Amino acid sequence: MTTILVTGGAGFIGSCFIRHELKKHPDYKIINLDALTYCGNIENLKDVEHNKNYTFIHGNICDKNLVRDLIKESDYIINFAAESHVDNSIKNPEIFIETNVKGTLNLLQASKELGIERFLQISTDEVYGTLGENGYFYETTPLAPNSPYSASKASADMLVRAYRETYGLPTLNTRCSNNYGPYQYPEKLIPFFISKILKGEKVPVYGDGLNVRDWLYVYDHCEAIDVVLHQGKIGEVYNIGGHNEKTNIEITRIILDAMGKDENSIEYVKDRLGHDKRYAISNDKITKELDWKPSITFEKGIKITIDWYLNNQNWIKSIENKKSGVKI
Ligand SMILES: NC(=O)c1ccc[n+]([C@@H]2O[C@H](COP(=O)([O-])OP(=O)(O)OC[C@H]3O[C@@H](n4cnc5c(N)ncnc54)[C@H](O)[C@@H]3O)[C@@H](O)[C@H]2O)c1
Repeated sequence: MTTILVTGGAGFIGSCFIRHELKKHPDYKIINLDALTYCGNIENLKDVEHNKNYTFIHGNICDKNLVRDLIKESDYIINFAAESHVDNSIKNPEIFIETNVKGTLNLLQASKELGIERFLQISTDEVYGTLGENGYFYETTPLAPNSPYSASKASADMLVRAYRETYGLPTLNTRCSNNYGPYQYPEKLIPFFISKILKGEKVPVYGDGLNVRDWLYVYDHCEAIDVVLHQGKIGEVYNIGGHNEKTNIEITRIILDAMGKDENSIEYVKDRLGHDKRYAISNDKITKELDWKPSITFEKGIKITIDWYLNNQNWIKSIENKKSGVKI
């Protein structure tokens, strides 16, 4: 039986990936190793918690003995575990080095010592830095991270490369654009703004709101990860994007419109330090070599997403109560 060790599987993308994988490969065993940091939420996988092929392990990717024990049981590792919020990395970079760099190193080292069939590192388009008005990030674009978050992810990518080149570890690396969909922690733009409006508050838009991001529906991303895991060429990097470039203010207006609000609900706030202007990612390689492309239009994906948050307000409330220490 094939066993996948998924790290960070209680977070946004990891939990969607586990759900996707249990459905797509009912004969696979999935072990979810997650430290349940502030953004990890075991409730994200309530619907599969009794699946006999799913096991949750509460632990840290920096824990050498635990990681070794789990790798012994696994055929593949997919490393989603990370500190992932840029604003937090600007305020407190150390934990980003601890988890994103040292944690990845720990997984690589144990994989090298014990052997693994495939090691897939989940990274971000932010490692490429920022773009002007034109052009795309390709896998060959030089890394030029601008925030402590993206620098930590770029460092991890370089370690993955080094373990491939030096020790021959069978690694794969994906770099994706901004994901959107259900179960995203409400600190990130879409669920954050929805939760603000639900509370009757204004939504804080950074700067002029004209920063551009390329939006990828989370379950399209999960399918791309599955394709890279099974068909990707060892040692390669694959970009994964949605080809949906939108400014932050466009996304804001879509959310406001869907929730019956107007421009009066917007509050422009001081821009984020070092705020990258534009990300846009080319899917050419994964489309040509592995025959993957996004399956859902942005219009459909954003509707499903907004409806999900509106229909799952208790999910948002339970997180907010956890943050404020209220027992529920
Ligand atoms: N969300 C996006 O739009 C996006 C875009 C590009 C890349 N990524 C990358 O995808 C991955 C997943 O992102 P996400 O949005 O699901 O993140 P998330 O913040 O929702 O989840 C991260 C998960 O990792 C766990 N975790 C954190 N530190 C850990 C540790 N030391 N040991 C074990 N578990 C730990 C958390 O508890 C949480 O469940 C990350 O590596 C991120 O860099 C995300």
